[in-house]
Amino acid sequence: MTDRFHNEFAPTSIEARDLRYVFHPTTNLAEFHETGPLIRKRAKGVYIWDATGKQYIEGMAGLWCSALGYGVDELVSVAEKQMRTLSYAQLFAGVTNEPSVLLAEKLSAIVPIDNGRVFFGQSGSDANDTQLKLLWLYHNVIGKPKKKKVISRWGAYHGVTLGAGSLTGLPAFHKNFDLPIPGILHTSNPHHYRFAEAGESEEGFSSRLAAELEDLILQEGPETIAAFIAEPVMGAGGVIVPPEGYFAKVQEVLQRYDILFIDDEVICGFGRTGKPFGCQTMDVKPTTVSLAKALSSAYLPISSVVVPEFMYESIKEATRTSGMFAHGFTYTGHPVCAAVALRNIEIMERLDLFQSVARKAEIFQDRLRAFDDLPLVGEARGIGLIGAIELVKHKDTKESFPKDAKVGIYCMERCLHHGLVVRALGDVVCFCPPLVITDGQIDELFTKFERALHETIEKFAEA
Ligand SMILES: Cc1ncc(COP(=O)(O)O)c(C=O)c1O
Repeated sequence: MTDRFHNEFAPTSIEARDLRYVFHPTTNLAEFHETGPLIRKRAKGVYIWDATGKQYIEGMAGLWCSALGYGVDELVSVAEKQMRTLSYAQLFAGVTNEPSVLLAEKLSAIVPIDNGRVFFGQSGSDANDTQLKLLWLYHNVIGKPKKKKVISRWGAYHGVTLGAGSLTGLPAFHKNFDLPIPGILHTSNPHHYRFAEAGESEEGFSSRLAAELEDLILQEGPETIAAFIAEPVMGAGGVIVPPEGYFAKVQEVLQRYDILFIDDEVICGFGRTGKPFGCQTMDVKPTTVSLAKALSSAYLPISSVVVPEFMYESIKEATRTSGMFAHGFTYTGHPVCAAVALRNIEIMERLDLFQSVARKAEIFQDRLRAFDDLPLVGEARGIGLIGAIELVKHKDTKESFPKDAKVGIYCMERCLHHGLVVRALGDVVCFCPPLVITDGQIDELFTKFERALHETIEKFAEA
């Protein structure tokens, strides 16, 4: 189909050795063994070069994570210095290290939770598993052992570990993995374009979803529901910006039944939606927050769960009798990851990055929405510096293409051909560039996409 589709690799090539030895994540493995891998060789700023020297503009910030772009020397220096000073230290049993303390202090100051207390992990998935365990532990120690269930949403992505994979609301991540685990429920996806009834306003759709949520809570028994989890803007579910009034109505329901709000900021956190945190853009008042990805601009793996004082105090007091808060990872509070994450946030602040995203978002969203009138473009949607184009067979009826037409994949491959990295989730083509992208580079990104889209229209639009 494109440059990449050949399968004759020299036995000593990286491609052949990849095909022999690497077990790739989130991949159609059978197809992959026919196409072979695409090697990324180096990257700087918002550009990536493959093994043939071809240059691409980065339209996905890696996997929604490289906020400051690639090759920031200052972060390299911080990592090197920290490795030379203290390459590792744990936080178990009363030991601490300065980078972790400073990072926790910084996060507590900027994350919108009163007196936030910070637990460190290494990925978004483990952060959300930690969220579940803290939630269960908290309700046990305050004497509400029945209040344990968590409501997520169809279409959500919260990771792939046993707990997080259960919270994820994408059937492919459940099927044949025996997920979800008991006690995880899913309510409706808030995608107005796809799931609103004919003529239903955004407000009307939001009211219906809030009523459905309330029905689910009543049916299960409010005394059994501990929390609701949501990304302020769904990312890997296809960039779903909630409809008008959605979170206000949902939060009203949750408050009525004393249900906590877990805010998954793994994609939205650190400026993606135009404010420091997605909950601020969407007017959500979270109980707890999960952070990862842009927390370190993906220079090193690190995640955080931020909990309010009342949860921490209850859990702390309970250790007087239990003897220990028995949860933690070898790499909880890794000093090198913490030092890099802290400097990453300091650079964001120095660049006034969140303000600049809010400004660039206007250009970005205007360019994105300009595709709305083209054939095959069912919906162009987004907020801040995140967006998507949903390709459909019939604009009027919103009918999707059959799965095996692989229209999204075709469009993504044409983007690659023109030197643009995007991600196709089914027939939804996603954009999430590094936050440091310039106005000129936004133009370059969409000019390349336009070519790819026109080729896709030429191939798939009915005459
Ligand atoms: C909103 C959200 N939560 C959690 C995760 C899981 O993060 P990780 O892949 O680091 O485990 C992701 C990953 O894309 C995500 O988008």
